[in-house]
Amino acid sequence: MTRHLITSALPYINGIKHLGNLVGSQLPADVYARFLRAKGDEVLFICATDEHGTPAELAAAKAGKDVADFCKDMWKIQSDIADGFGLSFDHFGRSSSPQNHALTQAFAAKLYENGLISEVDEEQVYSHTDGRYLPDRYVEGTCPNCAYENARGDQCENCTKQLDPTDLINPRSAISGSTELEVRATKHLYLKQSMMREKLQEWIDSKTDWPILTTSIAKKWLNDGDGLQDRSITRDLDWGVPVKRGDEPWPGMEGKVFYVWFDAPIEYIGATAEWAQANGKTDADWRSWWRNDEGAQNVRYTEFMAKDNIPFHTLSFPATIMGSEEPWKLVDYIKGFNWLLYEGGKFSTSQGRGVFMNQALELFPADYWRWWLISNAPEGSDSDFTWESFQGQVNKDLADVLGNFASRLTKFTRSKFGETLPDGGEDSELETKLREEVNARLVTLTKHLDAIELRKAASELRAIWALGNEYLQEAAPWSVFKTDPERAAAIVRMGFGLLDLYARISAPFIPHLSAQLAEVLNSNDTSWPSTLPHTPKAGTPFTVPENLVAKIDDETRDELIERFGGRD
Ligand code: MF3
Ligand code: ZN
Repeated sequence: MTRHLITSALPYINGIKHLGNLVGSQLPADVYARFLRAKGDEVLFICATDEHGTPAELAAAKAGKDVADFCKDMWKIQSDIADGFGLSFDHFGRSSSPQNHALTQAFAAKLYENGLISEVDEEQVYSHTDGRYLPDRYVEGTCPNCAYENARGDQCENCTKQLDPTDLINPRSAISGSTELEVRATKHLYLKQSMMREKLQEWIDSKTDWPILTTSIAKKWLNDGDGLQDRSITRDLDWGVPVKRGDEPWPGMEGKVFYVWFDAPIEYIGATAEWAQANGKTDADWRSWWRNDEGAQNVRYTEFMAKDNIPFHTLSFPATIMGSEEPWKLVDYIKGFNWLLYEGGKFSTSQGRGVFMNQALELFPADYWRWWLISNAPEGSDSDFTWESFQGQVNKDLADVLGNFASRLTKFTRSKFGETLPDGGEDSELETKLREEVNARLVTLTKHLDAIELRKAASELRAIWALGNEYLQEAAPWSVFKTDPERAAAIVRMGFGLLDLYARISAPFIPHLSAQLAEVLNSNDTSWPSTLPHTPKAGTPFTVPENLVAKIDDETRDELIERFGGRD
């Protein structure tokens, strides 16, 4: 039995995420976790909120809340939404946890001991009115590159140029609007990533089975000379992990915190420690997932993320791990995703364009979204959410193919044979052929899921569903019944066998609908089948499922286009 550690990129705490965020990390990670659990592997699936940094502080200020309270409330909101989508995390933690504080400070101490941290004198913007330093987005002003007047201290939204707060012309505080700013000299810590370039290059080069998207981004950063510059890992903020060397103070660093991108990936480990604590487990339990000297050498670790996160996970976080020179686990496989577009454009929080996770759950059952998103996951290239495509696929795949198969079969059987499976009849060539086709496709489906090829897996699953309808069409139990009821009985029993198979193999994709299908035969076998199991026995009681899938009509679709912003 393999032990699988699975992490999804940690959603940022500043607001509710949209469907693009969901499909780029949490959802595909969940499909994989559910599949591996069904196969009988031991799985630990970890996620958490990413809570530090200026976006969190600014969002809290906008909401009129203290940042700690804001994060606590938003964690709960995100956690409930994740439950609504059926995301089966073993733990959903918080990067502000004491566990992450301690781990982050311990990593910094090791990196310092190993000569990988330098103290650099820097210039930072200080605001007299606000009585504090203004890092990153806390400063706004005119872009030196394109003269856009609302550029932020970290980046100009207009021309995308990466900026430092001190680059801005006519800078002002994003908190108070004050222009009484001063540039002051202050000390910050830098991680000397450049010293680890060769080690990282060698490691990336050894990952020949990784998706091209992942390795090409990593290699570009390694070879551009730009990506692997030493980077500042501290900030002049209150909210964050205080800069310390383990438990010891760090002289000259008082009042500073670690940069959010330094502590966030360490929270993968922190959240695993939180999981142990929340479940009455020991330190040895969580360490067995992360320490190669304590059991983690036989763990396979897979990370899921969208492409903007790839540099941090292929270079920065591994630099932290390798630089510690301690036997922490490095990732074994990174599954990266392209962007999901919305009606041909970008999802936009500020313009209210696109669908956010809370809205999605209010509109339709989670499985409708899960099915569309996984079948159209932006794996090889960007993909485009349109309401028309969503409507089409829900109506066709879920309603006409899967839902229709289940209701047609169960209703017919009840009307002719009552509420237990009928006896009699023999399998014919038709059943033999069906078994062969299903078994061949099951092998392919399993192969795609093992390889985390989710679009291919979804289309194979759809094809297996379609085999059920084709079989019923061809075997035609409704007309056979008139002359040979025993043969009709054999056909419907075969149909129920398929239904039970569907409940099991669809569960990673559409867990809620699958549970409804499993209820038909009151079956609680959730294991992953390698072949179509034996047909359920005569006499087995069954029920007719109600309201499996409701179709989306054109009027509703048009209203949604109107409400959420359609094509410009
Ligand atoms: N919060 C980041 C984002 O939304 C992802 C952080 S992943 C982590 O892009 F590993 F760094 F935590
Ligand atoms: Zn600009």
